[in-house]
Amino acid sequence: MKNTVLVTGGAGFIGSHTAVELTNAGFGVVIVDDLSNSDMGAVEGVRKITGVEIPFEKADCNSREELEQVFKKYKFNSVIHFAASKAVGESVEKPLLYYRNNVGSFVNILSLMSEYGVSNIVFSSSATVYGQPDTLPATEQTPRKPATSPYGNTKQMCEDILRDSVAAYKGLKGIALRYFNPIGAHPSALIGELPKGVPNNLVPFITQTAAGIRKELSVFGDDYNTPDGSCLRDYIDVVDLAKAHVVAVTRMIENKGKAEYEIFNIGTGVPVSVLELVNTFQKVNDVKVPYKIVGRRAGDVEAVWADTKLANNELGWKAERTLDDTLASAWAWEKHIRNIK
Ligand code: UFG
Repeated sequence: MKNTVLVTGGAGFIGSHTAVELTNAGFGVVIVDDLSNSDMGAVEGVRKITGVEIPFEKADCNSREELEQVFKKYKFNSVIHFAASKAVGESVEKPLLYYRNNVGSFVNILSLMSEYGVSNIVFSSSATVYGQPDTLPATEQTPRKPATSPYGNTKQMCEDILRDSVAAYKGLKGIALRYFNPIGAHPSALIGELPKGVPNNLVPFITQTAAGIRKELSVFGDDYNTPDGSCLRDYIDVVDLAKAHVVAVTRMIENKGKAEYEIFNIGTGVPVSVLELVNTFQKVNDVKVPYKIVGRRAGDVEAVWADTKLANNELGWKAERTLDDTLASAWAWEKHIRNIK
């Protein structure tokens, strides 16, 4: 029988790319999304790329009733839980919204899984759990630092909820993937990142500046203790990241895990500075991105990148796309949505 995966938040940036890779790998997919920060265009893009009429259900994972309808209607043995709010600043202003959306919905998912006998779950965690690590690169054993925002706290809490649930409920397996900085878009330019309002993240701000929607990029700080003074991050291509989910689900279905609950860093292992990223984008795409250096952004860490050995050796997954390819895809997507030739 075909393995089917419930993808919550499947109309979002990473969820839509993962729905494509799962379908390409032969999985059945059911997408659930409340469309609060996404739109049906992404689901249509996924259907177009794959040629499969992937089922979609509009449901809010906070509502146990709405979610239960999905568990009743479809048969699946795995869940990938992307549905969550992700703006750090907003989480400071509206912590309860974040605890409800991110933690409450996760509790709903896990309890319905145990009720309906669904065994495997992948949880979208984040490198934010490491804060500023004392040593780099960050391995999965690097201690987590106290969260500096409610958003970051929800990621730590959900990791712990998953660990405890897997320990308590027989048959439940979980993998937390700690994403570093996901960027890029599908090479078809049919799906990509679609931030509402002014982007918080670097790459969407760059693509919108290149498209003339924003006047200039502010580079937050050039006085860090890094080679060029700007912050270092590990930018992971969204298609590579999507493939890590396919591998993680397969590992649980095939019982290949070393433990019932596992954690993997998903990054490239290569630190890239903000200025390097802006310059590479300009060079690869032959387009100008006006920028100015401004002060540091509150809450930013100086440098974080992944030790990817565990993912490489245990999961057998490795980032493949080059930064040039990724930034070309990001620009192709921005041009597609803005009708730029
Ligand atoms: N940056 C700029 N200008 C911008 C936007 C970002 O210079 O307009 C810089 C930031 O200062 C940082 C780098 O670009 O050095 C990356 O910033 P992003 O906002 O794209 O990503 P972050 O590393 O800040 O965010 C990531 C995840 C979040 C997570 C956060 C926690 O995207 O989900 O790490 O640190 F919460």
